[in-house]
Amino acid sequence: MSANEKGDSTRVVGAGRRKQWTQGIVNTPVWRASTILYDSVADLRASGASDTHHRLFYGRRGTPTQWSLADALTELEPGAEATFLYPSGVAAIAAALLSVLSPGDELLLVDSAYDPSRGIANTLLKRMGITTRFYDPLIGAGIAELIGPATRAILMESPGSLTFEVQDVPAICAAAKARGVVTLLDNTWATPLFFPAIQHGVDLSILACTKYVVGHSDVMLGSVTAAPGHFSKLRDTSFQLGQVASPDDAWLGARGLRTMAVRLRQHQASALRIAEWLATRPEVSRVLHPALPSCPGHEIFARDFKGSSGLFSFVLNGGDDAARAALIDGLEHFGIGFSWGGFESLALPVDPARHRTATRRDDAGPIVRLQIGLEDTDDLIADLDAGLARFRAHVF
Ligand SMILES: Cc1ncc(COP(=O)(O)O)c(C=O)c1O
Repeated sequence: MSANEKGDSTRVVGAGRRKQWTQGIVNTPVWRASTILYDSVADLRASGASDTHHRLFYGRRGTPTQWSLADALTELEPGAEATFLYPSGVAAIAAALLSVLSPGDELLLVDSAYDPSRGIANTLLKRMGITTRFYDPLIGAGIAELIGPATRAILMESPGSLTFEVQDVPAICAAAKARGVVTLLDNTWATPLFFPAIQHGVDLSILACTKYVVGHSDVMLGSVTAAPGHFSKLRDTSFQLGQVASPDDAWLGARGLRTMAVRLRQHQASALRIAEWLATRPEVSRVLHPALPSCPGHEIFARDFKGSSGLFSFVLNGGDDAARAALIDGLEHFGIGFSWGGFESLALPVDPARHRTATRRDDAGPIVRLQIGLEDTDDLIADLDAGLARFRAHVF
């Protein structure tokens, strides 16, 4: 860290708190609005005719509450131009893709992507005459060979949120830039604190803020942070789609953000300890955690990332769906549910082989994904130990 570069905790505490928005109190309050009132007809007309960025115009274009969080996320991405907020992570992914793709274009999409991202490509984009080719997450600079005359965008997710392959984002971005292709990254797992995406060459950095930014499993929210030159198209498309995150949700997002660095540090430490413990267990064939050498792309993680978060998977040594369910069903401290990034631990059965089209998986047994929360690690390990005993009783 250079002398004038601030640490992560300092940055998340201060980001986006402009005095004109906070009005002198600590947190930017909830400014709810649909109608904005003007002093005169001339005033109203002048307002519509000029750029409304960070200016009250109509509720759909936001208020200081949304601008404050958007600004904070921009500040956390060195080199970024600006950020647009969305009512969910999926809304952010869809708007970002629609801002860069037109009929006749081709999208390259990583085969390890979050399933709803595949869904957008295989249904909505397909209907619009946009084709998608899926690629191996470990392709690296080899992506250059897939870029054809119609390729317009590449959507990466690194690591993949089920199987955690780490992609060579800088190499993919360099190949894309050389051919005028726009790069998008779902950076939800690392957040800009652990992977400053725009610094690594990404054009549009996407977060499901629902996860670590909000951090409390009670709000849906998404964001796209744009590199210079990519924001105005993103904003225009998002306005045309009528996208607006509610001020209340943005406020909760900003509130969550203030503790994100400290939460991530704890998620990191607890998840690493549990992943390392699982790696010693005979019931476990492989731990898919980017910070462990057993994870595909680990060397790229070690080169590019500043830390790891709380989500990873492990592959069981044999067994079937029933044995996996026996492990998960009896867990005391792990909820069973979608999503992640909150303060509480979760366990989820995942079956990535079902979704793959460009790569094959050859796993020794079923896979469990864990979101490691902020509980005491000893309690979580004892819980998983009992779960593995239930698994053993099923299998052996
Ligand atoms: C990697 C990843 N990206 C995007 C999303 C979508 O976010 P949201 O649930 O806010 O739509 C999720 C949700 O689970 C996710 O895991």
